[in-house]
Amino acid sequence: MRDADAPALDLAWVRSRFPALAALGEQVFCANAGGTFVAEPVLAILDDYQRRLRVQPYSPFEPSREAGAAMDRAREGWADALGVPLSQLTFGPSTSANSYVMAQALAPGWEPGDEIVVAVQDHEANQGAWRRAAAARGVTVREWPVDPVSGELDPGDLYPLLGPRTRWVFFTQSSNILGSTNPVKTIAAAVRERSDALVAVDAVAHAPHELCSPAELDVDLYLFSVYKVYGPHQGLMVLSEAAEAVATPQCHYFLEGDSHKRFNPTGPQHAAVAGCAGVLDYFDALAVRLGVPEAAPRRERLASVGAAMAAHEAGLAAPLLALLADRDDVRLLGRRDTAKRSATVSFVPARQAPSAVAAGLQRAGIGAESGHFYAHRLLEAMGIDPASGVVRLSLVHYNSPEEVERICEALGDALG
Ligand SMILES: Cc1ncc(COP(=O)(O)O)c(C=O)c1O
Repeated sequence: MRDADAPALDLAWVRSRFPALAALGEQVFCANAGGTFVAEPVLAILDDYQRRLRVQPYSPFEPSREAGAAMDRAREGWADALGVPLSQLTFGPSTSANSYVMAQALAPGWEPGDEIVVAVQDHEANQGAWRRAAAARGVTVREWPVDPVSGELDPGDLYPLLGPRTRWVFFTQSSNILGSTNPVKTIAAAVRERSDALVAVDAVAHAPHELCSPAELDVDLYLFSVYKVYGPHQGLMVLSEAAEAVATPQCHYFLEGDSHKRFNPTGPQHAAVAGCAGVLDYFDALAVRLGVPEAAPRRERLASVGAAMAAHEAGLAAPLLALLADRDDVRLLGRRDTAKRSATVSFVPARQAPSAVAAGLQRAGIGAESGHFYAHRLLEAMGIDPASGVVRLSLVHYNSPEEVERICEALGDALG
């Protein structure tokens, strides 16, 4: 969502809420797509949990009761934030772990001759597990291809892949390489119009920029990673009723009635789950700074936060995109304008290895990265060697225009 009238972020305040930014000194951190810094309220919860509450939760004695209450607060808060019933929410160790578990959960319901659609644009976490489960069950995988030049997904290429045997369509909300945002709601509606398939969306690269409601998007499985949304190392997924109805529980048989455990065979990571509440505490405080009434419904407050972050991030991405689009010695990937994209900007240098450019940036104090970022199949489809990959600069709402100036300056030097 991009709103020209969105209130401006108080960047000094925002940055003060991320102690790791101060610890960086003169360095610029622009590898946020790999994992963001952790917000102060999250650190406070984690610290308190580890110091005082680290007992088996949910017994009536203190501090066990308090530990359970801290976990419940996180679960209830995130259900509210995502606009879904609490029973539809599962915390797990990561999105890759969650998709792996869900592949085990869904595969038993698949018959030989069934079909699934997998988008080539996705991180391997939203491809490999489904592809492997399909192969094991004799299910046909139909690939939703990308444009080999732009890497973009065209919904028009999806529709002919849908048929009476299509069970699921798996695609991404936002590419972790291109930064492009796909119109999830429109695509999900079109899938439903044309087939009985369920829809699964990887929102890992989108959630740091905007928290959407899977219920509003009308999707059946929605996955993202809280450690990329300023929080602890957790994956969060939401299953619709329809998804739950076709999924086999993956927990101990006597826990099947517990919606928190049904699709997390590892058992919950107690402190990390509790710490996830701190992300919402941070967003709540940010909404107050933006002038949103505290009494407004949470989805409304989050929409204002998302709009303010998007406006700020568009301002960060614009000079980077302009600089890279202007050079004839780089292949800039993704959309040139800042609409419908995040401030994750990737490019392939023509005359140097991506790792050499990243090393040049790092020498200048810019924490950039190079590689394939597990979007192996996307890079192959775009004719880019995954072994060398791309240079990726990923910015979020706490990055500053001054940092972008430094990145642009260092980029000029690194590219030569
Ligand atoms: C778009 C995307 N999807 C999925 C994942 C996997 O997430 P996790 O590290 O939580 O397994 C990542 C991680 O980088 C990602 O960028």
